[in-house]
Amino acid sequence: MGNGIAQVAARAGYEVVLRDVSEEFLERGMRAIDKSLQRDVDKERLKEEEKRAVVGRIRTTTALSDLAGAGFVVEAIYENLEAKRAVFRELDETCGPEAILASNTSSISITKLGAATRRPGKVIGMHFMNPVPVMKLVEVIRGIATSDETWARTRELCEQMGKTALECNDSPGFVSNRVLMPLINEAVFALHEGVATRESIDGIMKLGMNHPMGPLTLADFIGLDVCLAILNVLHAELGDPKYRPCPLLRKYVDAGWLGRKSGRGFYEY
Ligand code: 3HC
Repeated sequence: MGNGIAQVAARAGYEVVLRDVSEEFLERGMRAIDKSLQRDVDKERLKEEEKRAVVGRIRTTTALSDLAGAGFVVEAIYENLEAKRAVFRELDETCGPEAILASNTSSISITKLGAATRRPGKVIGMHFMNPVPVMKLVEVIRGIATSDETWARTRELCEQMGKTALECNDSPGFVSNRVLMPLINEAVFALHEGVATRESIDGIMKLGMNHPMGPLTLADFIGLDVCLAILNVLHAELGDPKYRPCPLLRKYVDAGWLGRKSGRGFYEY
């Protein structure tokens, strides 16, 4: 999702530093940005020179120290509390005292990430939806210490990127994944129990409920490892057995069947 966030920020006119751990990942990210912008060029919603200007505003790096001058940082690494805490500690050391540190986490506590820094008032959740250039929502999560000023600046940034910011308090899975993941998990249980085929489950939800994608297709799109990580957070932190991940979801993740990104999930790609 990091490349999508970089793209919408650069398109809004911001100078962006896109940081990843290897050149290979950065190249992959820039290819995704190029492909996504090219759709708009092909549809004559963006001129070729505008596309070049957007790409030109994105500088790539593997060095976290290159974020030292940033006024706003959006972290979008994998869903793991310790890894995110380490990044927030490092960002707190690296960035200027005025910089806001946001996380694109889908379920991890913003309060815990804020506590890893000396600026918890300037730490906030900025949960974009996939695909980032298309989806209008940013779910903005306030940790217990997040200041009103940080929320106001984040909302303004979202609006400048053409997104609608909707505010929510820090609670496992926030609103989006607290509601979405039980739906996806239930669809996996239905498949697991042989209630219907994958095509029927998805077709029923698509045609019957007007969902743009069926829940199993959506799970493949999000990544089955991501879905499992979120369900584990909901289950552990809310303590309610209704959030227990379906064994079939666990098995697929164990097999490395992670959805679209690995070539196989509930469907083959
Ligand atoms: N970049 C830029 N544009 C894209 C794009 C991308 N990666 N993917 C699709 N688009 C654009 C297309 O160009 C097209 O634009 P147009 O209608 O203006 O010409 C439009 O999106 C629709 O695309 P398609 O016609 O190719 O395909 P669909 O009509 O099937 O739409 C979809 C694709 C927008 C992905 C749609 O299926 C959808 O809305 N799916 C549900 C997505 C969703 O629920 N996302 C949230 C997931 S949860 C999450 O992210 C949170 C996390 O914490 C788990």
